[in-house]
Amino acid sequence: ALISLRQLLDHAAEFGYGVPAFNVNNLEQMRAIMEAADQTNSPVIVQASAGARKYAGAPFLRHLILAAVEEFPHIPVVMHQDHGTSPAVCQRSIQLGFSSVMMDGSLMEDGKTPSSYEYNVDVTRRAVDMAHACGVSVEGELGCLGSLETGMAGEEDGVGAEGKLSHDQLLTDPEEAADFVKKTQVDALAIACGTSHGAYKFSRPPTGDILAIDRIKEIHARIPDTHLVMHGSSSVPQEWLKVINEFGGEIPETYGVPVEQICEGIKYGVRKVNIDTDLRLASTGAVRRFLAENPSEFDPRKFLAATTKAMKEICVARYEAFNTAGNASKI
Ligand code: G3H
Ligand code: 13P
Ligand code: NA
Ligand code: ZN
Repeated sequence: ALISLRQLLDHAAEFGYGVPAFNVNNLEQMRAIMEAADQTNSPVIVQASAGARKYAGAPFLRHLILAAVEEFPHIPVVMHQDHGTSPAVCQRSIQLGFSSVMMDGSLMEDGKTPSSYEYNVDVTRRAVDMAHACGVSVEGELGCLGSLETGMAGEEDGVGAEGKLSHDQLLTDPEEAADFVKKTQVDALAIACGTSHGAYKFSRPPTGDILAIDRIKEIHARIPDTHLVMHGSSSVPQEWLKVINEFGGEIPETYGVPVEQICEGIKYGVRKVNIDTDLRLASTGAVRRFLAENPSEFDPRKFLAATTKAMKEICVARYEAFNTAGNASKI
């Protein structure tokens, strides 16, 4: 059944687990997520970005998610809109039937320019008023996603801040977070702790100076009842980078967020863990390998099935690592 983000994260907080929120653009991703959830008895958060709506179209995405709910009626599913750039964008998603929306007021409507604190409070408060009147949850964001190594948002294809960010912008301030949650009444708060979107998060395996899990602990100590969200949480599996590069790809050395660090965050209030890049890497690795090893195949279902299997393995691993597994039937 479709449930709200608030309902799921309240349960996750009560029982101390985290929930991966996977981005979805197509049938194969949707199947991988649902089959993994079914196998591990896990509740699901699927999220659609603006890029996904552009690629698949909002009606296709909506029906893809509703089809998942129909085929797996015993799995609770949150249908979440990722990175909404204005209350109007959130309103359209609510009308489409999303049970949760992200109002990302950390950036202006262009999705590039860092906003003022007052602007963020204002747009988020307006999105919350509207969403709550419809029984829909809201995730807000305070602080800007970006690398503590370079000060850059890092996303190659236009999601995230443009230009160099200051240290203050890259780490959410606990005191400001408390004020923000009080003023906006968001159901979940995305925080900045040194992660960024995409595959190029860290130039070396991250240590505490570039991945600030301690900041999450400080925020959680200040607002223990707020569900925290970690964006840019792909682990960038080295084994998939190897497969991609072995079969014709060219991805330079790069590192993601280690699963153990995410689990540490889950001990301190992180309840929603956003993952997109890992499924992209697994999918690309699987298709490159399949076509290289089966040069005479031309039925797309063959290589697409290989991508589904590769993505499903990642989903299962995250459901198990975050202790999401076992909880679908308890909600
Ligand atoms: O927010 C970032 C997600 O990875 C979505 O990316 O806009 O390319 O779909 P996208
Ligand atoms: P990754 O690029 O690390 O998968 O992060 C995805 C994300 O935060 C979507 O909102
Ligand atoms: Na989101
Ligand atoms: Zn994000």
